[in-house]
Amino acid sequence: MKIPMANRLAPLSTGIFAELAAEKRRLLKAGRDVIDLSVGSPDLPPPPLILDKMATYVANPDLYSYSISGIEAFQHAAASFYQARYGVSLDPQSEVLQLAGTQEGLSHLPLAMLNEGDVALVPNPGYPIYETSVRLAGATPYSLPLREERNFLPDFDAIPGDILERTKLMILNYPGNPVTALADRSFFEEVVTFARRHHIFVVHDFAYSELVFDGIRPISFLAVPGAKEVGVEFNSLSKTFNMAGCRVGYICGNAEGIARLSMLKSHMDFGNFLPIQWAAVDALTAPSEVFEAQLSEYVKRRDALRDGLAEAGWTIPTTRATMFVWARIPAAVSSREFAFSLLREAGVACTPGDAFGSEGEGYVRMALVHPVEKLQEAAHRVSRFLESTVERTTSYSEPR
Ligand SMILES: Cc1ncc(COP(=O)(O)O)c(C=O)c1O
Repeated sequence: MKIPMANRLAPLSTGIFAELAAEKRRLLKAGRDVIDLSVGSPDLPPPPLILDKMATYVANPDLYSYSISGIEAFQHAAASFYQARYGVSLDPQSEVLQLAGTQEGLSHLPLAMLNEGDVALVPNPGYPIYETSVRLAGATPYSLPLREERNFLPDFDAIPGDILERTKLMILNYPGNPVTALADRSFFEEVVTFARRHHIFVVHDFAYSELVFDGIRPISFLAVPGAKEVGVEFNSLSKTFNMAGCRVGYICGNAEGIARLSMLKSHMDFGNFLPIQWAAVDALTAPSEVFEAQLSEYVKRRDALRDGLAEAGWTIPTTRATMFVWARIPAAVSSREFAFSLLREAGVACTPGDAFGSEGEGYVRMALVHPVEKLQEAAHRVSRFLESTVERTTSYSEPR
């Protein structure tokens, strides 16, 4: 029997992530040890307070019904978190909507806002769902190249006029994945001016809002005057509270945009598991030390990997935010070739930059999802790999 497939699936590819996962599985099956730096899933536990609360809620038989939508207490908790952390006032009723993780909201929002023929600006390199969700909505993604020479901020002046005329939406992500850059207030002000001038709805993904190091304070897009008029921000409990598997996040900001997504969601889901929603309320209203405690661990990991790789002759930047390192590859091969050779020969998995778009070529992403000792071991393996690569390259280039 021929199984039908919707045309809208055609532009979606499983691509490089699936290939990488298959290669990892093959190596593990063959008894090889792999240090996996390719997946951004936090290995740290949720704060003990959340584990305790969750256990209590899960034992309560009254919390097993449909919730239909997010509970009001969550909306209030998210609003008070935004006030306390970013100085942003939100109306809990109309300016906060709970999601089953930001991934869910990011995948659905374009369906609620875009039509065929519309254009959406997406970062390149960028987190894959941005482009995918625009395509699923039948609209056309247009790449905003993020380049080192511009501190990985897009150049709005470089967008052609005919594209701007069709552009309805723009997705941004600071601190970003895979590019770990931060945006400052003046950039967000420029975004608001640009969005107003061209009637573009801004979607800012702030999933890494609390993984910002070295005393730097995260800046919410919504903290800039006028931002709420032109856009929304996604935030998540996945990384701040290591609750990734709980699937809980939220969108906040522009009430009209949120109403569109809320309307779509009312047809698509029945709300999150209530114990998770209540534990999320506890998380968002906990003192900041509860989630800031993990920052020093990320800094130690970042420094261990950076210093270990520096000894191997590979200088990588000091990541100021997120759980990733975005680094230029130290060899004259493609990102993909580099990542697959490193995996096969050294047992270290990282993600080739082109998995996040054409502008990622020449880079790899490494996730800080292992303790310091494991990252040091990864750096040793990379060191041996680089030495053998140099030897091989030298012997290949010798006349025979
Ligand atoms: C930039 C970015 N946005 C959104 C997400 C999705 O996060 P969640 O759906 O767990 O909130 C991720 C996950 O890694 C991410 O890296």
